[in-house]
Amino acid sequence: MAHINIELKDARSFLNVQPESLQSKVNDLHNMIHNKSGKGNDYLGWLDLPYQYDKDEYNRILKAAKKIQKDSQVLVVIGIGGSYLGAKAGLEFLAEPFVKNNLEIIFAGHQMSGHYLSNLLDYLKDKDFSVNVISKSGTTTEPAIAFRILKKALEEKYGVEQAKSRIYATTDAKRGALFTVAKENGYEMFVIPDDVGGRYSVLTAVGLLPLAAANIDTNQILKGAQDAYDRFNHPDLSQNEAYLYAVTRYLLYKQGKKIEMLVGYEPNLLYLNEWWKQLYGESEGKDNKGIFVASAGFSTDLHSLGQYIQEGERHLFETVIQVVNPTKDVFIPEEKNDLDELNYLKGKPLSYVNLQALKGTMMAHKDGLVPNMLLQIPRFDAYTFGYLVYFFEKACALSAYLIDVNPFNQPGVEAYKKNMFALLGKKGYENILK
Ligand code: PA5
Repeated sequence: MAHINIELKDARSFLNVQPESLQSKVNDLHNMIHNKSGKGNDYLGWLDLPYQYDKDEYNRILKAAKKIQKDSQVLVVIGIGGSYLGAKAGLEFLAEPFVKNNLEIIFAGHQMSGHYLSNLLDYLKDKDFSVNVISKSGTTTEPAIAFRILKKALEEKYGVEQAKSRIYATTDAKRGALFTVAKENGYEMFVIPDDVGGRYSVLTAVGLLPLAAANIDTNQILKGAQDAYDRFNHPDLSQNEAYLYAVTRYLLYKQGKKIEMLVGYEPNLLYLNEWWKQLYGESEGKDNKGIFVASAGFSTDLHSLGQYIQEGERHLFETVIQVVNPTKDVFIPEEKNDLDELNYLKGKPLSYVNLQALKGTMMAHKDGLVPNMLLQIPRFDAYTFGYLVYFFEKACALSAYLIDVNPFNQPGVEAYKKNMFALLGKKGYENILK
């Protein structure tokens, strides 16, 4: 059974060529993905992760999560890009807004704001905390600096030896500066497998340790990913929603729709948007090709970006996520005098009103020549999160292969780093500024 329903009526009405006409190309690319014979094929380890993960390490993750819950009020997760967005997306997707959890998860190392870090250090002063530092390369500057600073804070608070038992390092199995530091100090270590790149690493310790520490049922996340694996394990577009999504967005791109907006009507989806943008932006945007990925949270952004979407340049299409069965709702009360003229909605749940906003917006945007795809997901639960992660990962690999780029590298990210190192005076980069 599909856990994501994809509704393409709107998008199809824009297309000169329907997705099904690309079936034989999809068959070939599917074989290329599964035979691991395409570009970047040594980074396809994520494909089998839902079933083939290290069970012993998984048990250690759950054990570490319990220890963190027991001895900490805050877990600081240090990482950038694929080393933090998956966990953040999962935490937000599954959050109960305004409910305080026993363990607070805070992210650091995803920017270099001294303002942010200085306030974080103040905040941590009277709290017990642990640190999960995540970096596959182990050499990324932003998390490395944050870790150096937070390690010092831990050591000042607990002493050098005690601090070690509060540091969890998620990194490469054999190399990198973080690997060396962790080995040298005897931190508990978790591995990002060689053949899994950062943005495809949610289902490794990168995502699973912070999520398990937050008391999220990671077994259910894996179960969702396993069912998605089974569902998308063949190329047939009539039954593979991930491929159907990939092919449809490719055809829209070919017809001049160069920008895709991922849109949700629930604040819990905002960081899924951020994770998705990183996954698709870094995977597709190369060789002067690729859809530019953007996002919006409606209704909020209907009152800002909504104007542009409706009437600005016509190079957009939207992928809308609808949460079909929200588990919580509120009902609109009746008022005797109806001064605010809302009694026509009395007794209606807010989800009903939200749904009419979604439908009305899709109709309006279609009229404004913005094609829509609708992804319907059942609810916010761990299973759905795991399913959705795998859905987008599988679709992303096919998307990148459809435009013939390597989905798994990010050579463009190096450009800013080199200039920054030169400006900072790092050894070996002296010539760059010349
Ligand atoms: O998807 C990717 O590979 C990147 O976004 C990385 O996750 C990001 O650059 C962080 O790299 P690292 O984990 O090596 O610090």
